[in-house]
Amino acid sequence: MSPKALVLAAGEGSRLRPFTYSRPKHLIPLLGKPMIQYPIEDLLSSGVKDIGIVVGYFGDLIKEHFGDGSRFNARFNYIFQEKRLGIAHAIYKAIESGFLDREFIVYLGDNIIGESSRSFLDSFHMNGSDVHILLTRVRDPSQFGVAVLDGSKVKKLVEKPKEPISNLAVTGFYAFRDPDLVAKAFRDLKPSWRGEYEVTELIQWFIDRNYKVTYSEISSWWKDVGTYEGLLDAIYLLLDKEREKIEGDAKGELRGRVIVERGAVVEGKVYGPAFIGSGSYIEKSATVEPYTSIESRVRFSSGVVTRSLIMDGGEISLSRARLVESVIGANSKVRCSRELHGDMRLIISDNSYLEI
Ligand code: G1P
Repeated sequence: MSPKALVLAAGEGSRLRPFTYSRPKHLIPLLGKPMIQYPIEDLLSSGVKDIGIVVGYFGDLIKEHFGDGSRFNARFNYIFQEKRLGIAHAIYKAIESGFLDREFIVYLGDNIIGESSRSFLDSFHMNGSDVHILLTRVRDPSQFGVAVLDGSKVKKLVEKPKEPISNLAVTGFYAFRDPDLVAKAFRDLKPSWRGEYEVTELIQWFIDRNYKVTYSEISSWWKDVGTYEGLLDAIYLLLDKEREKIEGDAKGELRGRVIVERGAVVEGKVYGPAFIGSGSYIEKSATVEPYTSIESRVRFSSGVVTRSLIMDGGEISLSRARLVESVIGANSKVRCSRELHGDMRLIISDNSYLEI
């Protein structure tokens, strides 16, 4: 029987305000699909059929969007976490609710991994582990949980270390063999300094009692998307993986790897890697430069956009200006009414209007 999985999506995404004033960050689109769909599709491609989605902040929007999972040929359940008391608490709630009743995976809904997690799951099974975690080397370990290794064994996990004890971050993919043991471990936990039941401490409970805690290391990339920079990095990484695909009407100038989805029209220039979502219209005097994602139903009339994310329903008319490393929320209008030249960086929430 394939494992069950829990995808966590209850958080407020405060570092992604103002976008998270009108939606959970998990529904922010990246290359034509909400961020959370990446972990979900990864799980589905590893053969997981039963997914519990832990929701809280704007949880109804996530439920409305994904429904019962039949569209994905899977079963989705929703678990409401009213108080956001941490990852270990969310897992415990899902065990208590009866959903997690056999071996399971936990996947953070804002984590994107550049490779399939199937091989990590295989290692978990082959090792006969009680807990399996996924590690990757990072430049700034102080923002994550980190692992200290002893040969092939995991010796210690520390959440957001103040001292540089390891540069191996614990990513948001975890596999557990026995939900009863996890519940037992949780009952011994105390909230951390940030008031959360930490997943790293939950796993430390297993290490301290000599249970088998193993790990895999990511060989490609991993992104935990929590900030604007994170969104733009994710677009960069995701676009690098994509192949060229032209399904829309591309009569303008296209260079490099470009994706033009069905129903999109390009009359201007698109320099890839770049994504043009369904129903979007790139007019004659508009240029899309590399590492840009124009989501669906965007009308881009003039100027240049580079290394940016333009969400659904935007209307962008820049005259001769160039938008750089910008994030424009859904249904927002940006209009340069004078002959502006030069670069500008804009971070604008949903349903806004900016006229320069
Ligand atoms: C959480 C975990 C941390 C892990 C990180 C990965 O941190 O507590 O161990 O490294 O996710 O995304 P948080 O995002 O809650 O700060």
